Amino acid sequence: MTRDATDQTPDPSKGGKNMTYAVRYYTKTGNTKKLADAIAKELGVEALPITEPVNDAVDILFLGNSYYAFNIDPEVRDFVGSLKKDKVGKIVNFGSAAMLNSTYKKVKEEADKVGVPMDEKEFHCKGEFKMFHKGRPNADDVAAAAQFAKQFK
Ligand SMILES: Cc1cc2nc3c(=O)[nH]c(=O)nc-3n(C[C@H](O)[C@H](O)[C@H](O)COP(=O)(O)O)c2cc1C
Repeated sequence: MTRDATDQTPDPSKGGKNMTYAVRYYTKTGNTKKLADAIAKELGVEALPITEPVNDAVDILFLGNSYYAFNIDPEVRDFVGSLKKDKVGKIVNFGSAAMLNSTYKKVKEEADKVGVPMDEKEFHCKGEFKMFHKGRPNADDVAAAAQFAKQFK
């Protein structure tokens, strides 16, 4: 059966929560896509780049992004700015970076402008950049990202 956000019938396989999800990511070197694919697989949806708008209403938008020159990419800012609060229940932030710990505050600044709440929880791990953190996110990071997503089911 196809389920969408307007179907309020509890789904027993989801503990009666009937949650709907979307996964979007921005990547320059592929690291964020690795995490996005793991999270999406766990949730049974497809990870799509942020060039794909969120057209169907979802309870949770998992948003993968990263730091580039101490900031999030302008495309990520614009994407968050384009979100509609009646379409997105909340954002769950995830990503990786070489040195900095989290893009949470930067994403939240944009989310606040459009009135879309952000979950306090996020997933972050090291991401390969030049000679630093070779191979990250690695298999353990990918497994941890999937495990992180599980708690929202
Ligand atoms: C152009 C560029 C600039 C970056 N600047 C930063 C930075 O300022 N701080 C940081 O912690 N990591 C920085 N990084 C590292 C990335 O955040 C890290 O490699 C991340 O995993 C990249 O994710 P992606 O492959 O999905 O783009 C930078 C990477 C690139 C390619």
